[in-house]
Amino acid sequence: MGKGLRKGLTSYGDAGFSLFLRKAFIKAAGYSDDALDRPIVGITNTASDYNPCHGNAAQLIEAAKRGVMLAGAMPMVFPTISIHESFAHPTSMYLRNLMAMDTEEMIRAQPMDAVIVIGGCDKTLPAQVMAAASVDLPTVVIPVGPMVVGHHRGEVLGACTDCRRLWGAHRAGEIDEQEIETVNGRLAPSVGTCMVMGTASTMACMIEAMGLALPMAGTIPAPHAERIRLAEASGACAAAMAKTGGPRPSEILTPASIRNAQVVMQAIGGSTNGVIHLTAMANRAGIDLDLASLDEIGREVPVLVDLKPSGDHYMEHFHHAGGVPKLLRELGDLIDLDAPTVTGATLRDVVAGAEDVPGQTVIRTPASPIKPVGAMAVLTGNLAPRGALIKHSAATPRLLQHEGRAVVFESIPDMAARIDDPDLDVTANDVLVLRNAGPKGAPGMPEAGYLPIPKKLARAGVKDMVRISDARMSGTAFGTIVLHVTPESAVGGPLALVRTGDRIRLDVEGRRIDLLVDEAELAARAAALTLPERPAWAARGYARLFHDTVTQADQGCDFDFMRREG
Ligand code: FES
Ligand code: MG
Repeated sequence: MGKGLRKGLTSYGDAGFSLFLRKAFIKAAGYSDDALDRPIVGITNTASDYNPCHGNAAQLIEAAKRGVMLAGAMPMVFPTISIHESFAHPTSMYLRNLMAMDTEEMIRAQPMDAVIVIGGCDKTLPAQVMAAASVDLPTVVIPVGPMVVGHHRGEVLGACTDCRRLWGAHRAGEIDEQEIETVNGRLAPSVGTCMVMGTASTMACMIEAMGLALPMAGTIPAPHAERIRLAEASGACAAAMAKTGGPRPSEILTPASIRNAQVVMQAIGGSTNGVIHLTAMANRAGIDLDLASLDEIGREVPVLVDLKPSGDHYMEHFHHAGGVPKLLRELGDLIDLDAPTVTGATLRDVVAGAEDVPGQTVIRTPASPIKPVGAMAVLTGNLAPRGALIKHSAATPRLLQHEGRAVVFESIPDMAARIDDPDLDVTANDVLVLRNAGPKGAPGMPEAGYLPIPKKLARAGVKDMVRISDARMSGTAFGTIVLHVTPESAVGGPLALVRTGDRIRLDVEGRRIDLLVDEAELAARAAALTLPERPAWAARGYARLFHDTVTQADQGCDFDFMRREG
């Protein structure tokens, strides 16, 4: 049995009185002694008018509570921070660690024997798992689920790969003002998370594959009845965990499950953001995720799931094709099937329950993959000594080996001011470079890595160029884009030394990104570089904590004091 309301009582010498007081207050809400004398399952509420992705949170909470109660435990819902991609200034990434701290401390502070975290919009699930790993209380994750698809003129649409594509067409003058307004109302046709293989879907699938959620939790569409039933079943699962005290996140987040998550991330054509979040989650469990092994896994694991932006379909199609359990079965020996899950079953049991859907083409076999190798590659070179990422599955093949002249933008405002200037000296063969867009530099490493094609080139029909930055990119974006250049320019990384006119060579095959400037010249430029003092935006409060302690992309952009050792 769990400790229920007694958990964490501060007795100050009279434990009986503390419990008496606690019960007196909670009875103000109308609870009976029978209700209160049970194991407690906390449930996070991340509903917010600013977070349409979590628009079904209330329904999921209701169902989870039902599941908890039917299984004989007591549900207690509590609010935490909610973060939506489009409504979080300066960037949702800046707030992820705050949400992780909030969630961790509220789980610690309030009496509960197990916890259900309900999230989904990009940064929320990683923040919640980071918190859960740190508290190490039995935890079940319920993703809010993906949106259903939209339709426009006979075409299937999805947020937000098609947001970008169609906006690009509008910029190029192919779609007029009136039509783009119509499209605007059709890209996100329901509550739930972006239904392409963006960050939200990537995180939900990885979390399911790590055993932190029930089978199919990653893919059931947000508005479906099946998701509500999943929430009820998750409630029952959490109640069982509250009674037995396990399994804890530390028993589930193991080197094997973290490796499984990397395999799945490659096989689904996952978001590059997934690498940063997985690193942060693993570190909270005391596990390292090194980029070299990620690249190795990428060379072994084929892309099997045919979803945008790497392929053609959307999350609901992945779901109806069998979802993550079916994918795990196809991945065979690449997955460690002994890895445990929250239900007490192993992934072997999950795979045994996978559905075979005749004629489906969304989940391929290793014999007929979407791509023979994984979605992303890790690059190093004199421009990125601690690594950079490219999602080559969403890139233009002919640009994967490319040498060109750098056109440098000093910052995001500099890029915004000049990129569409008709006098900008730029050609389609040039390499666009953006700096001061990393974890400390921007701050929060915004998704600015998807530099727009300069308007005059876009109008001339140029769809893709090599683009390099210390920023991130939305998992829904498409292009030959080198991201997460580490160390970032704001801490003196070599990206700070590039000048317009320098030559840059991208060699994805050889896993290199190099600035073709000789060492003596680079040393002279480095010597002349002055790094800024703490900038004005970081003078106080959370901004100061963030600036002073955020780690680089290769360490997950967590705060440097949050890692659990060993
Ligand atoms: Fe919430 Fe895409 S905006 S998942
Ligand atoms: Mg996103």
